[in-house]
Parts: sequence; C-alpha cells; structure tokens
Amino acid sequence: MKKVAIFASGSGSNAERITSYFTDSQLISVDLFLSNNPQAGVIERGRRLGIPTVLFDKKTFAKTDKIVDLLKNQHIDYVILAGFLWLIPENLVKAYPDKIINIHPALLPKYGGKGMWGHFVHEAVVANKEKESGITIHFVNERYDEGKVIFQAKFDVLPSDSPDDVAHKVQLLEHKYFPEIIEKLIVN
Ligand code: GAR
Repeated sequence: MKKVAIFASGSGSNAERITSYFTDSQLISVDLFLSNNPQAGVIERGRRLGIPTVLFDKKTFAKTDKIVDLLKNQHIDYVILAGFLWLIPENLVKAYPDKIINIHPALLPKYGGKGMWGHFVHEAVVANKEKESGITIHFVNERYDEGKVIFQAKFDVLPSDSPDDVAHKVQLLEHKYFPEIIEKLIVN
C-alpha cells in the first residue's frame, strides 16, 4: 500500500475528491491532511472523512524538519498539493524527489508563479481574453509552478465567461483528472 498525504490551504474539494476516489483502493491510501490555515474548509472535511489533519505554522514548515519528520514517521510515500499556497522548502523537496505533485488551475507556464492562485488566475484569464484555459498537474521543485509537467487538460473560455465560470470549468477538470493521474503515477 502506498501512503499519500495531502496539503491544502483552502476549501479542500480536491482533497476530498482524491480521498473518496481511493477509499476502497488496495494500492493507495490517503492517510493525512495537512494545512497552514486554521480556517480552511479542508479541516472540516478531514473531520468528516476521518482523516487525521495536522495544522502547522510558517516557521515550523519553512525553518524546521518537523513536517518532513512527521511524513517520514508515518511512512508517507507521496505528497499531494491540492490548493496549497506556500512554497515547498528545500528539505521537503529533497525528502520526496519526484514524489510531490501539485495541481495548478491554468495551463502552465501561463498564469503561474507567486501570487497566481485560485481566483487571481481566473480573473487574469478573463481579463486577458484567453480563448482557452485548463489545468496542469506537475512535479514540485523549490520554485513556484516550475516543476516538470505531468498532465494538462484544456477547456474553451467563452467571451461571456466570468471568472466564476472559469473556476467552475477548472474544478470539473480537476475533480475528474487529479485522482486518475495520481493513481497512474503511483501504480505504474
Ligand atoms: C484548485 O483550483 C487548485 O488548482 C488551486 O486552488 C484550488 C483549490 O481548490 N491551486 C492553486 O491555485 C495553486 N497555485 P480546493 O481547495 O477546492 O481543492
């Protein structure tokens, strides 16, 4: 059994979707949620789903080995970032080479980098009158949104689409593909 931990800073709909997808899996289990945000919806989801959830602050995350030690002590094999907004520190990247996977709500390298997350991305896509957008699933390195791309999927952006419409299209693709791509990566 490969063990997965999911980091999330917000609502956690992807974290829940991934957890539900693997509920009956013989190969992959979601064992832990981690969040930097005490207000994050993912905490309530963890409670409801029975997934232990760990909260941490910036200093613990960026300046100590506590989170790496926790993951290793729990024999976590893969780390999934599902709407997690902090840069991953070098000690964590080194501890999990090619085993940290992020989802980004646009077609990287477009609309990536620090500050480009969630609705900021959707607003920029609409403001720039993009004809298409999509999702990117990629490995994580020490720089925001620059790791090797694993998978992308696209949708059309209509002239009438609002940022909320774009967000909805992104979410449909994320919920459909993120669990499947994680499964393919881990099982193959
Ligand atoms: C997702 O759309 C994810 O792509 C995005 O945050 C959302 C989290 O939604 N991530 C980023 O913008 C990272 N740069 P969720 O909390 O409902 O899963």
